Amino acid sequence: DKGNHRHFMEKEIYEQPEVISHALGHYVNFIDNRVLPVSEVIDFAEVPSLAISACGTAYLAGLVGKYWFERYARLPVEIDVASEFRYREIPLTPQSAALFISQSGETADTLASLRYCKEHGLKIGAVVNTRESTIARESDAVFPIFAGPEIGVASTKAFTCQLAVLAALAIAAGKARGTISDAEEQAMVRSLAEMPRLMGQVLNSIQPKIEFLSRELSKCRDVLYLGRGTSFPLAMEGALKLKEISYIHAEGYAAGELKHGPIALIDENMPVIVIAPHDRFFDKTVSNMQEVAARGGRIILITDEKGAAASTLDTMHTLVLPSVDEIVAPMIFSLPVQLLAYHTAVHMGTDVDQPRNLAKSVTVE
Ligand code: M6R
Repeated sequence: DKGNHRHFMEKEIYEQPEVISHALGHYVNFIDNRVLPVSEVIDFAEVPSLAISACGTAYLAGLVGKYWFERYARLPVEIDVASEFRYREIPLTPQSAALFISQSGETADTLASLRYCKEHGLKIGAVVNTRESTIARESDAVFPIFAGPEIGVASTKAFTCQLAVLAALAIAAGKARGTISDAEEQAMVRSLAEMPRLMGQVLNSIQPKIEFLSRELSKCRDVLYLGRGTSFPLAMEGALKLKEISYIHAEGYAAGELKHGPIALIDENMPVIVIAPHDRFFDKTVSNMQEVAARGGRIILITDEKGAAASTLDTMHTLVLPSVDEIVAPMIFSLPVQLLAYHTAVHMGTDVDQPRNLAKSVTVE
């Protein structure tokens, strides 16, 4: 049932504040702002490294997770798309753990990567939406994302719920490894607790701007998304979402890679969507944007209040989100990224929930 939404995708985008809040409730204690003990099977204090593998959007959630596990838990992460991971003959140590991320829990390549790690003696964790799935069944520890059924082929609420669970796991790992203090843990959990309310606020306020921008995007043949740090996987997620449902060619790049190739494409016909919260990377990303502007590129800047105040750039449009803790930004910034793809596809009249050539669950390699 789509309720009063035109598509399941729209319904699922708007459900996010509610499902994330529900998901977080299983991983953190909002009374004392602490993470709950995660797993008896995977001892994050002891593992020398973590392997992460997944496909598509789940892989991009894993990539954000890598930044978090490495930064907050000082835990080295090896990550790859499952179709490469399973054949790369990665040297793995049995003392390590592996995480597999999958909405459906049935993705063939992800399952094969899981079995590969199992054969090598690693402890297996699964971040899944479908708890009665093969991936969940074959794992030693299951970390459900509690997103509820996701019908739209383009993943939205599963992505942000995967992020929320990975954030909680990274904080828990940091606690276990002694790399974050009690005060840091509490500050991050408090930010996570505030997130669903902020998500609701963002969803209610950005609609008119998104509609306007989507009309512009629907006229384009190509779109470039840029970001640094955790905004880099988000740039790739934005591009993936746009191409899946609007069939517009889009690419996501690390902002610093711009001058190593893609800058050759910049002209007034290709909008550049820059995802840049006011974090440690903001100034560097702005200087990359200056290079785009100098070449006549049209910039759509997605930033926060602090970023908007600090930037003097001439943009085609600037979307301003609330300023939040770094660990919360990827979830908040997912919202405009998802809505831009959604409304562009609606303008173009494509089959949003069932885009051509795609299946919700990919059970062949
Ligand atoms: O069920 P899974 O999470 O394992 O699926 C992985 C990908 O097939 C999936 O995320 C795909 O990329 C989506 N269509 C993205 O919107």
